[in-house]
Amino acid sequence: MTEAGAKWSLGRLPVRADERGRLVAIEGENGLPFPVRRIYYLYGMPSGAERGFHAHRKLEQLAIAVSGSCTFVLDDGSSREEVRLDRPDACLRIGPAVWREMRDFSADCVLLVLASERFEDGDYIRDYDEFLESVRRK
Ligand code: TYD
Repeated sequence: MTEAGAKWSLGRLPVRADERGRLVAIEGENGLPFPVRRIYYLYGMPSGAERGFHAHRKLEQLAIAVSGSCTFVLDDGSSREEVRLDRPDACLRIGPAVWREMRDFSADCVLLVLASERFEDGDYIRDYDEFLESVRRK
C-alpha cells in the first residue's frame, strides 16, 4: 500500500465497489505499516486555516481525507513536497522526523489520522529550527 522506508509516501487503499457504493477496509498486516494505537480526525477547518507546523520524534501516521481535500506540506529538513489529498481511497504515510503543515482544507474536509502511538506531548518538535537541528544531528 505504501512505500516502506521513505519518509512519506502516498498510497491507495483497496476499494470494494458495487452498485450500492464503495467500502474501504483497513485491517492488520494487509493494510497497515504499523499497529494503530490512536485514531483521530480533524473537521470544521475554516477557510484559510493552517494546521500542523510540527514534526514527531517517533510517531508514524497514516492520513486519509475521508471527505473533501487538503494539502500537506512535507519537509525532511533538506527538501519540501506538497501532497494533495483529494480522494477517500488515498492515504499518506508520514514517518518520524518529518515537518508537516496542512492547509487548503475544503469546507467538507474530514481528515482521518491513524497513529502508531498514543498522544504524547514530548514527541512533538514545534520549533522549525529545533527540527532542523534534530535532523542534522542524526
Ligand atoms: P494540534 O497538535 O495543534 O493539531 P494539528 O497538528 O492538527 O494542528 O492539536 C490540537 C489540540 O489537541 C492540542 O491541544 C493537542 C490536542 N490533541 C490531543 O489531545 N490528542 C491528539 O491525539 C491530538 C492529535 C491532539
